[in-house]
Order: sequence, then structure tokens, then C-alpha cells
Amino acid sequence: MDSESAYDGSTEELPFETGSEEAVGVIYGNVGTTHFNVRVMSTIERMEYVQFEHPSDGLVLGQVSEVERRTDLSLEKAKMYSEGADINIEEKVTARIDILGFRDDRHLLQVPRTPCRAGTEVLKASDDLIREVIGLKENTDTGAYLGLLFGHNIRIESDINSMVQKHVSILAKTGGGKSFLCGALVEELMKHDVTVIVFDPHGEYGSMRVKGTKQESSRDFGVVPHSYKDKITEFATDLQINPKAKPLKFTLANIEARDLLGLTNVKSARNYLTMLRKAMDAVKGVKRDFSLRDLIRVLEADDEHQNSSLINELEYLSEVGIFGDKGTRIDELVQRGRCTIINMKGTPPDIQELIAERLCSALFELRKADKIPPLMLVVEEAHNYCPQQGQVASSKVLRTIASEGRKFGLGLTIISQRPAKIDKNVLSQCNTQMILKVTNPNDLKAITSSVEGLTSGMAEEIQRLPIGVALMMGGSIQMPLLVEVRPRESKHGGESVEIIPSRRV
Ligand SMILES: Nc1ncnc2c1ncn2[C@@H]1O[C@H](COP(=O)(O)OP(=O)(O)OP(=O)(O)O)[C@@H](O)[C@H]1O
Ligand SMILES: [Mg+2]
Repeated sequence: MDSESAYDGSTEELPFETGSEEAVGVIYGNVGTTHFNVRVMSTIERMEYVQFEHPSDGLVLGQVSEVERRTDLSLEKAKMYSEGADINIEEKVTARIDILGFRDDRHLLQVPRTPCRAGTEVLKASDDLIREVIGLKENTDTGAYLGLLFGHNIRIESDINSMVQKHVSILAKTGGGKSFLCGALVEELMKHDVTVIVFDPHGEYGSMRVKGTKQESSRDFGVVPHSYKDKITEFATDLQINPKAKPLKFTLANIEARDLLGLTNVKSARNYLTMLRKAMDAVKGVKRDFSLRDLIRVLEADDEHQNSSLINELEYLSEVGIFGDKGTRIDELVQRGRCTIINMKGTPPDIQELIAERLCSALFELRKADKIPPLMLVVEEAHNYCPQQGQVASSKVLRTIASEGRKFGLGLTIISQRPAKIDKNVLSQCNTQMILKVTNPNDLKAITSSVEGLTSGMAEEIQRLPIGVALMMGGSIQMPLLVEVRPRESKHGGESVEIIPSRRV
């Protein structure tokens, strides 16, 4: 059919026979090489996939970016209509289609270089064409199953090697479903025997030991409830509120006086640094494994200097209890094929930053020397450990891992509700992005500037995403995709707390 005889969309019947895929409508008006309009004669929604035959390139995949109902009800007639006048409203539905492309003979993704003809029939895309053009592989050995393509029964699997080598970011506003999705990702990593370390500031991930409950859902995700208790070891700094965990301890032997002072509220006092250094040297002279108590004793014995504020601060640190004579051994923490949760619930923020710095530095150095297995490091609330503004103890090492970790098989997954507050150098290194609902304009700006290939249409989409739907892109995912996140196999620990419990316990 040539453009002269183009179908004008004036009847509700399609002028040709259709195949097994459902007909959507026909192309009309001016036709571009990146997008065109379709007169819609069935129902179609934004973000749905369509297919059409290009004269020289064969079957091409497109996606609906906008649907519009055009009517002849004028402003004047609308008033009469509201007053009960009998007015016949003519309606035409049109959709804008963005062209995604086709696979050529060598299986490379191509976009047609010439426009399609007006009058060309547009159909709903077959799942096979979607899989082929987008490059989706299902049930692969290295795929982490994270959900189903929105509106289709196609499994979305992100390649684990690509995620470990090129890092991941999971971003959404608070309550947007980040931890839920990250939990699904960690489940997949455990299933594939990947070594995982999770920095868990709120103590949410220990619940993965508990089998989840089957959720009623209109879609069958094929998820079976499962407990990961055999795969998880949990360490915590505060055993009083986390009694099931093993203690996480650091030795003072390899901590600098400056870093120790940095954890106190007297960090700026210069003479305290000298005093502390002296006291540490004195203790080290007699004891290899020493405690804060030993240091305090030396400082108390010093009558010459006014050091009571320093002693008080060290007393406080001693109560926090992260420093012990014997530190937790790294081979206890990192166990091949297992997930280690570092539960920091109840630990003050500056101590958490120090723990992150100590652990990340150790993991990076040991991974460089190949003394621990390749692993995925998951950092919840990443804006606290590598902020864009200011410097905290863990800032530098996280930046190093983001830029160099890939060379050593040290993957990073960062999670945050404030993308604008994460160090850009870290965020921009995350190749696989999983973005749930975000509404804050600054956060949207941070996302659009750090994510390659994100169109303004997609930025709009991010603001409107329903809970449980993520925009995923990058890494092994070749095009931005809307993904309905799969239910959890194990229990999600980040449930919102209700003020009035429905049942007394
Ligand atoms: N895919 C999903 N399917 C079903 N429920 C979900 C899904 N994603 C999130 N939820 C529910 O939404 C709530 C918030 O999810 P989640 O704890 O993951 O949010 P978050 O983004 O981590 O929030 P915060 O910023 O507070 O950490 C939870 O109660 C969870 O059960
Ligand atoms: Mg969370």
C-alpha cells in the first residue's frame, strides 16, 4: 500500500486481514524514522509493545509512548452537553509509537533508516518478537529472576556476572519497594551460590531466614515460598537488640589514633590527638591485643593533662562495644557461596560509617590479593556511606570500589531513597539501574544525569510508577524495561510499622 492510498482511519474496520496477533490500528499522518502515529481501533495502553512490517527491514518492534482520544466536542458544545443537549460526540483514538528496532541477519539491534508507509497495519507485539528484539533470555544459568515484563509473561533476568562486574543501583522514594526488590535480588544471588555481604542499617535482611507466604496475585510469577536460613550468617554490633546474631568486633591494634578520635565528639581538639597517640603507643608497648579499658587506664594515670572529656568519650565508645581484644576474623565474615548480613540496627551513624570503612577496605584489599571469593557487596542507605556533600569515613573506599571493584570481582549494589545525595562518582558507576517510583525533582535530576539513555518520557514514567513496578536498564538489560517485581520467596523484613496493631500479641 503506498502513501497516496493511505488509510485515513475513518472507519472502525481494518482494511486487511490480520495474523494471530491482535490488531491495534494503522499508521497515519507524517511518519518518522524514530516515531509515528497510529489510528487506534482496539484498546492499547501506554508502554505496551507493538509490531509492524517495514518495507525493507521486516518485522519491527515499537512501544506506545502516548495515547490520545481526539474528540469534536468543542468548548461551546461541552457546556450544552453538560446542560443535557443531545450532542453526538465523534471520537478518534490515536497513539504515538516509538520505534525500538529489529534484529538484522547478524542478530544486531538496528533501527530502520527509512520511514514506514502510512497505512501500514500495527499489531500487538508477539512475546517472541519482544524477546528477540530486546534480547531477553529466560531460564539462563547466570540470570537473576527479578520479575515479569509489565503486561507480558516474559521473565526478566538480569545477568549476575554483569551485575557483579559493573555494579547495581536500586533507587526509589521511601516506601517505594527498594528493600523488597533488593531482597529478591539477594535471594537470587544466594540461589546461584554467589557470596554476598549486606550492610543492613535497619536490621531488615535477617528475615530472609523465614519462609515467605504465598501472596494472592492476579499474575502467576511462579515463585515458591522458601527459607534461606541455611545460606545466611548474621553479625551485629548490638547484640542486645539483635540477640540472634554473632558479635561483630574490631581490634584497636590496627586503628589509627586519628580515626579513633574521629569517632568522638572531641575530634577537633589537637592536644587530645597527641595524648591519645601517646597512650596508644604506651599500651601497644606492653600488649598486642588491647582494649579501650586499657587505654582509659593509661589516660587516667596521667595527672599532668586535662583529659577527662577524652576519657568520657572513650567510655562511651567502650559501651558501644564494637572494639574488643579479638576482632571478628574476615574468614568468618566472608564465606564462599553464603550471604553475610552486617546488622547495624541500634549503632550510632558515625560508628556505622567506621564499620563500613573498615569492612569495605578489608574486602577490597583481600579481593585484590584473591584471598576471598568474588562477591557482591550490598549497601542499604548508601547516601549515608558515600554522600555527595561532605566526607564520611567510608566515602573514599566506596568510591574506590565503585571505580575499581569490577577489575577484582567485587560488585557493589547501592540502595537509596535520596539519589541526589549519593556521591555522583559512585552512582554513575552503577551500570544496572533499577528505579522504582521517585517524585522528588532533585532525585529525578540526579537519576537522569547519571543514567545513560534515559529519555524525558521515561523520567515522566518514573514519577508515576505503581508500587511493585520497576524501570530496569543497563548491564545485561539492553533497553529500559518496565518490570513487575516478583514476589519474595522469603519474608520481607521492611514492613511498615502500624501504630495500632490489628491483633494484640
Ligand atoms: N513488589 C512488591 N510486591 C508487593 N509488595 C511490595 C512490593 N514492593 C514493595 N512492597 C511493599 O511496600 C512496602 C515498602 O517496601 P520496601 O520496604 O521495600 O520500601 P523501601 O523503598 O525499602 O522503603 P524505605 O525507604 O523506607 O527503606 C512494604 O510493606 C512491602 O511489603
Ligand atoms: Mg528499605
